[in-house]
Amino acid sequence: MTGERPSMELPGRLWGPWILGFWGGCRVQVFAAIFLLLLSLADSRSRAEKDFGLVQPLVTMEQLLWVSGRQIGSVDTFRIPLITATPRGTLLAFAEARKMSSSDEGAKFIALRRSMDQGIKLPGLSFCNTQFFPQKQREPRKGRLIVCGHGTLERDGVFCLLSDDHGASWHYGSGVSGIPYGQPKRENDFNPDECQPYELPDGSVVINARNQNNYHCHCRVVLRSYDACDTLRLRDVTFDPELVDPVVAAGAVVTSSGIVFFSNPAHPEFRVNLTLRWSFSNGTSWRKETVQLWPGPSGYSSLATLEGSMDGEEQAPQLYVLYEKGRSHYTESISLAKISVYGTL
Ligand SMILES: *[C@@H]1O[C@H](CO)[C@@H](O)[C@H](O)[C@H]1NC(C)=O
Ligand SMILES: *[C@@H]1O[C@H](CO)[C@@H](O)[C@H](O)[C@H]1NC(C)=O
Repeated sequence: MTGERPSMELPGRLWGPWILGFWGGCRVQVFAAIFLLLLSLADSRSRAEKDFGLVQPLVTMEQLLWVSGRQIGSVDTFRIPLITATPRGTLLAFAEARKMSSSDEGAKFIALRRSMDQGIKLPGLSFCNTQFFPQKQREPRKGRLIVCGHGTLERDGVFCLLSDDHGASWHYGSGVSGIPYGQPKRENDFNPDECQPYELPDGSVVINARNQNNYHCHCRVVLRSYDACDTLRLRDVTFDPELVDPVVAAGAVVTSSGIVFFSNPAHPEFRVNLTLRWSFSNGTSWRKETVQLWPGPSGYSSLATLEGSMDGEEQAPQLYVLYEKGRSHYTESISLAKISVYGTL
């Protein structure tokens, strides 16, 4: 399963040491995005248009953060990357450290690496126990925390946990279930799975989900909620034929000006060809140009952006892609690519 190990270099020293923490045994893999509020929300349409005109994504750095094969803390396999940025510009990268094998089942911890300087300098070191969730930046329900996940057979489909008191209490919104509900699925059944929520400029929430049984297409399921995920309705489910997908967890994030970025292995059958796409139309269409991050084996990916000022200096927006990458199998390593959104160095 894990295949031949890559002869890639060990991670550099730019990031803090990997830290292990307990993963509460939860089978639901929750993929959280964070909605940054670094720029004024009083954005005019002209600012967005000006911003769109500058977009020319360019990979400026790439670094392996974790390498599988019992080289780091005798962990067999690192999988399931997740990256997020705090409002102060600290990057947090997570992965599952699967102790004994690459299997989904078995002992695991969460590995964390942290960079306080946009991934470019040796960071200050400390433990971080905080969890980060996407937070609504606009009405309705501005300030709400939204965590979306998927169930297993007994409670399958996509559902979200919501908090309106900064995480003190949580409740479920109504989800969208797989069809037929609670029964083993066959090829072409409707079965939305691992998902990534993000907020559009109009305050609606899009949940871009894995299409587990290739219902309708070998492409992504897109759910949209207009009430901050209180309800997810079947009539607001669409499929995006442009987002060809081999059944995988993908990355999605929106900049403050409204550029939607999406990453996945862009292939209808196999987990290869990790590709970055972007949209200037709230995800209703995607630009023809793409950035291919890795042609070979690649699996799950996660996106985060850093925008606005750092230490009082205005910075060009940066995008970070954390993804599973390998030469003969995608479980070989987890890599971080830093992308300059405007293509400037
Ligand atoms: C990778 O995906 C891009 C975007 O869909 C496509 O243009 C390209 O042909 C793909 N490359 C391979 C090797 O599949
Ligand atoms: C995207 O959504 C915003 C907010 O509703 C809207 O102003 C803008 O026109 C939309 N863009 C496109 C291309 O539809």
